[in-house]
Amino acid sequence: MRRRLAAGNWKMNGTGAALSEIESLALKHPSPSVDILICPPATLLHRAAVAAESTGIAIGGQDCHGESFGAHTGDVSAEMLTDTGATAVILGHSERRVDHGEQNEDVRAKARTAMDAGLKAIICVGESLEQRDAANTLDIIGGQLSGSIPDQSTGENLIVAYEPIWAIGTGKVPTLEEIGEVHDFIRARLERRFGEGVGRSVRLLYGGSVKPSNATEIFGVSNVDGALVGGASLKAEDFSGIIQALE
Ligand code: G3P
Repeated sequence: MRRRLAAGNWKMNGTGAALSEIESLALKHPSPSVDILICPPATLLHRAAVAAESTGIAIGGQDCHGESFGAHTGDVSAEMLTDTGATAVILGHSERRVDHGEQNEDVRAKARTAMDAGLKAIICVGESLEQRDAANTLDIIGGQLSGSIPDQSTGENLIVAYEPIWAIGTGKVPTLEEIGEVHDFIRARLERRFGEGVGRSVRLLYGGSVKPSNATEIFGVSNVDGALVGGASLKAEDFSGIIQALE
């Protein structure tokens, strides 16, 4: 049985004042029946982990380097994330793939170091609007899955997030059939590569304009085990509505 997960990606938003949102969220969900993860910017990770201590909320990073240490000015290693108290990391988000030219092999290297450090890797995949219009969605997702996911993946250390690029921050959401088609495809690919046991235990998240108002129907789609939420994770009240839809 896969435990459902509500993950919030704060992206490049939030200073110390935003930590009160974590405290409010913890008050609203004192003993959550689903997993809750907040991924704040790196500057807030340690303070967020302290704020979330003894609550049902876990803290995660938004990226890590593909190597464990060394001369990489400005980068953060997986071990540094664990040192802050983080237990997960988002990798291969489309904003990193576009803004920083991250390729599948880069994401795979990052996921390897993350898993080696004991972090859960949330590997993001998703097509652009042009790719969807050209009926290339499943080919693109298939390539991202095989290229980005390392061989050492298990149901414990891997989470896959399907985020159609055109649905991120736009208010546009794929139809439930479209979400279901991609999630079923991801599940089948994981089962084929890792075997049924592991393939069925990996959690699959949908991401892209998830809000309290559309969460319930999205969570009703088969193989959707939760959401990776951007804008609506910044305020405890909004994110709480999404968590409630998952509970
Ligand atoms: O990683 C979450 C994200 O890209 C979705 O963002 O703002 O559309 O929920 P948003």
